[in-house]
Amino acid sequence: MQTPFGVIYSTNITPDPQTGIGRWTERDFFRAVRHGQRKDGQRLYPAMPYNAYVKISDTDLHDLWAYMRTVQPVQQAPSPNSLSFPFNIRQTLLGWNLLFFDNSPFVPQPEQSAPWNRGRYLVDGPGHCAACHTPKNLLGGDTGRYLQGAELLGSYAPEITGDRYRGLGGWSTEQIAVYLKTGANHQAIASGPMGEAVEFSTQHLSDQDLSAIAEYLKSVVGSRTTPPPAIAASEPIMQRGAQVYELNCMACHNVKGGGLPGMVTGFADNPAIRTPSGANLVGTVLKGGQAVITEGNVTGGRHAFIRLEAQ
Ligand code: HEC
Ligand code: HEC
Repeated sequence: MQTPFGVIYSTNITPDPQTGIGRWTERDFFRAVRHGQRKDGQRLYPAMPYNAYVKISDTDLHDLWAYMRTVQPVQQAPSPNSLSFPFNIRQTLLGWNLLFFDNSPFVPQPEQSAPWNRGRYLVDGPGHCAACHTPKNLLGGDTGRYLQGAELLGSYAPEITGDRYRGLGGWSTEQIAVYLKTGANHQAIASGPMGEAVEFSTQHLSDQDLSAIAEYLKSVVGSRTTPPPAIAASEPIMQRGAQVYELNCMACHNVKGGGLPGMVTGFADNPAIRTPSGANLVGTVLKGGQAVITEGNVTGGRHAFIRLEAQ
């Protein structure tokens, strides 16, 4: 995993006794997943999202342990990390944990509905959505701007609160659930890191859990962003933009940027486009992209990189 602090290699978590976790007890497993501590007492880097997994219930973790014991053991020692000083010293993580690790379990809020609580549990615990969608401070700790959009290396994880302008306020709960299930909806197509999250995780959730997540996300107030004033279509920058768009993008993204649902990203009401950073747009044009392929949407479009034409 590329991090701003260097490269971290994930470890072998198959039950291999030499190179994996074959000699671990259930207690060792709980301590690693929920508290970021290895069997030998060393601290794990928060690239392993234990600050989210600390919210996972005893029952779910017990089931997870039972499943992990049945995974095929593979003998393979992980590569050593290449982190810069002082992040290569695991003791610094004691300080990190003191500052940023909220070691408290998930507590349901009785005044909220059962689906809302289930959604919050999945988002904050096993789904660890904040790992990408909450902006980080210089030391990689979460800021208070919960789920309000964050720069990743090379892309931008947009705001996913109920904010009407920057977040998912304009999407129905069903449209959010369809995106998480199939990787695409009426506007957005998941690619890059979210493509991976959909492919390996959210497409496998039940419809009930997906609508619980959607209900919870829409209830989060978010950044309360006011849309910037519109730029007049007669301004030179707008005319130039329109010309570049017509020549290079319109054939696929449609006359008014509506895209092609399930196939080509729409720009009109899409938080991934309406971000403070142009990373997703610039990155897609310069490097290309690949829509996720899921059971629910088997034709994932591929974005060639584009050498812009302009008159
Ligand atoms: C590994 C990082 C990562 C994780 C983990 C992650 N996301 Fe994302 N997410 C992204 C990125 C990057 C995008 C923008 C993707 C794109 O434009 O194709 C995104 C986009 C989205 C969008 C669509 C917004 C839009 O306008 O296109 C939704 C909804 C979303 N994520 C919800 C979630 C939820 C819910 C979770 C937790 C279950 C989650 N994400 C976990 C990185 C992540
Ligand atoms: C040949 C068809 C085609 C053309 C031409 C094209 N696109 Fe795309 N675009 C797609 C497809 C398919 C996707 C969805 C797959 C993906 O995200 O990589 C997409 C997705 C995108 C996204 C969303 C990326 C994200 O992270 O969610 C952006 C931004 C984008 N295109 C911008 C542009 C711009 C700007 C142009 C013109 C300079 C352009 N595209 C031209 C087909 C096209």
